[in-house]
Amino acid sequence: MIVHHLEETPSILNKFIAEIRDQNIQKDSLRFRRNIERIGEVLGYELSKHLDYQASEITTPLGIKTISLPQNKIVLCSILRAGLPLHQGLLNYFDDAENAFISAYRHHPNNDAEFEIVVEYFAAPSLENKTLILADPMLATGKSLVEVYEAIKKQRTVTEIHLVAVLGATEGIDYIKNHFPENTHLWIAAIDDELNEKGYIIPGLGDAGDLAFGEKL
Ligand code: URA
Repeated sequence: MIVHHLEETPSILNKFIAEIRDQNIQKDSLRFRRNIERIGEVLGYELSKHLDYQASEITTPLGIKTISLPQNKIVLCSILRAGLPLHQGLLNYFDDAENAFISAYRHHPNNDAEFEIVVEYFAAPSLENKTLILADPMLATGKSLVEVYEAIKKQRTVTEIHLVAVLGATEGIDYIKNHFPENTHLWIAAIDDELNEKGYIIPGLGDAGDLAFGEKL
């Protein structure tokens, strides 16, 4: 796996990351969602440098200009529900992408820290000869991303994958490295070293889905 850790090069992205982590600023859910969206835009821009380009002639009112344009047929797939603002950020740049959605949640059968990932809903176009961008804002244990990938592979032929995440844990990244093809790219804004016993990223930011959309029962 080729990991692109964007925070390694300080940029305006760091401000967006600081704001989603800050316990006071993150309470403003509109700002939280918009910051995740902005991070998606930055990650999408960086990812775009690794697409395939071909020269096209563009006719302006005054002449013709040759511009290299991306050729990839992109399918943007996000994990419900926390992935929605990240999806929107990516879609702002890859505006002609096809879209796919998959649901995954942590099921705690014994009401303790142990959990299994349940994948239920999946709606997607064909992925054959397309570039799949799989977006998951919080790459904690990596288990949901792997379960989702397994579910997608059962129903579709996957040709090329870019994973996009806002925040990850080193353990989760090591885990997914063993489950995705070697040529998979991971575009990630920030990486923390720890996971707690419940599989939350430390210091992380808390529950991204709840911060974006409110607490659930
Ligand atoms: N999902 C979250 O929203 N936060 C974490 O820290 C881990 C998974």
